Order: sequence, then structure tokens, then C-alpha cells
Amino acid sequence: MKILVATDKPFAKAAVDGIRNIVEGAGHTLALLEKYTTPQELLAAVKDADAMIVRSDKVTKEVVDAASNLKIVVRAGAGYDNLDLDACTSRGIVAMNTPGQNSNAVAELAIGMMIFMSRNCFNPGTGSELKGKTIGIHAYGNVGRLVAKLAKGFDMNVIAFDPFVDNAKVKADGVTPVSSIEELYEKSDFLSLHIPATSETKKSVGTALMSRMPKGACLINTARKEVINEDELMEILEKRPDLKYVTDIAADNQTALNEKFGIRVFSTPKKMGAETGEANVNAGLASANQIVKFFATGDKTFQVNK
Ligand code: 3PG
Repeated sequence: MKILVATDKPFAKAAVDGIRNIVEGAGHTLALLEKYTTPQELLAAVKDADAMIVRSDKVTKEVVDAASNLKIVVRAGAGYDNLDLDACTSRGIVAMNTPGQNSNAVAELAIGMMIFMSRNCFNPGTGSELKGKTIGIHAYGNVGRLVAKLAKGFDMNVIAFDPFVDNAKVKADGVTPVSSIEELYEKSDFLSLHIPATSETKKSVGTALMSRMPKGACLINTARKEVINEDELMEILEKRPDLKYVTDIAADNQTALNEKFGIRVFSTPKKMGAETGEANVNAGLASANQIVKFFATGDKTFQVNK
């Protein structure tokens, strides 16, 4: 089988080497398309691929239609909003993710971002400490749980809201579950977002929630830009000169945000949450192993288009 790794943002070399070992060791061949600049390059590369590993690369209906041999696509990462699941399903293509494999990298970045914002983006002037502050975890999945664990190491008070997670599990981690999303925002000096981008969550964070945040609060987005209502973000930052916003996924109106609000806002130049060698190796090798196992045994653990 031909297994294509198609990554606009390439994996670290150690991850590519590891993927190659797994793929070739199982008797398959590996094709590599990295740093491509046009969708046409991806369309050409998928033509004869039986399997595909991607990161945030967009697997649209057009890509699926062009991939006439494709049987499985694995998103090396957690969020699979970049895959057209309906297109995959209608062609009988199995779509998977690799949950948890890059979570630590994202959680560490969220903590780093909190410190950076608390210290005025490393500009001169008096900052503040994380110790004793309350951090709200919006969605207690793999990343949220790790952020909570790290935040406790800073002596922060950790609260969380996730209607899909049993509160007993949250409490067992020494984290306080709150009963509503409104309460989460009202109590959080730092609010760390970990919700996926779905039809329900897109544009769900805006004035109604942010206006509830305490004085001087900071919203940290290592999730997806789509969950933010960007027009309302602009409005609330104007109305509340004490609020801050830091993101790993530049907003569509990021330049305007930067010009207007200076060091109250910050965006990484390119999404870097999962950009560590460790996360690349974890997610890349997991993807390769999942594909090899699927071809060998039909195993569909981690399928997301059931
Ligand atoms: C994920 O959903 O796993 C992260 O957003 C990582 O995305 P990336 O592979 O593009 O860095």
C-alpha cells in the first residue's frame, strides 16, 4: 500500500524517520509531500495513495474525490475539523485522529502564554504572578486536563466546565467543576479554551461570555480561531480595557487587534501548540501504527466518522 504523508507544516525529521520505519517495516511504501503551497500539489499527490497522514492540512471533498484509492486518512493530532467527514464516509474511507498524542505540547504552550501575558509580553513594567489566581478550563479533555495539572503546580485555583465529562473525574484531579459556562467565565482570571470547532461551538465565545470575566482577566486560545466571535472580541476588548487575549491561531482580524490593543493581545505567527519534536514523534508514529494495524487487521480504533 502507498501511504502518503501530506504536511504543509512538516513533522520533525525524527518523526518522519519513525513513520518511514513503521510503514516500510510493514511492507508498505511511503510518499512525502511537505511544505506544499497550492491545493493542486495535494490533489496530485493523493491520486494513487491508499492511506494518508495529515496535520491541519485540509482534506476537502475535492481531495477525497481525487484520491480514488484512498481507504484511510489519519489526522496526526486531536482536532479533525480539517477533514470533510461526510466526503470520507460517502466513499467508505475511514477517518481517524490520534487523541492525546500532542496534548502535552499544547498544554505547556497554554501555560507559557499565561506567563507571557502576565509579564506584559516581556516588556518593561510591573506584571503579575499566576500563584493564587483562578484558571478556568473550558472543556476538560486531554489538553484541558494537562493544563489543569500544570496550573496546580503554580498554586493556581483550578476550575473547569465540561458537560461531557463526569464531574467525579474532574474532582478526582483536585479540580473544581462549576455548574455552568457562565460561572466558569465569571470566576476565571485566566480562561483556557479547549473546545473543538464544531457547528455548536463556532463563534460561541464572544461578548456574552467575555463580559462576565473578572477585572484584568485573560483569555487563552490554543484551540481554534473559529470558536471565537471575532467581531465581538474586538468590541469587548474596546469596552473593557482591562481584558487580554492571547491565541495560537491568529484571528482573521489579528492585524487590527494588534494595532488597536498593543500588548493586550498576542498571536503566535503560525500555530505552534503541537510543534515540538516530542509531539511530532508521538502523533506521527501513532498515525503510522494506526494505518499499519488497519491494513493488517481492519482495526478501526480512533475512527471519527462512524
Ligand atoms: C491538533 O488539533 O492536534 C492541533 O491543533 C495540532 O495541529 P497541527 O498538527 O497543525 O500543529
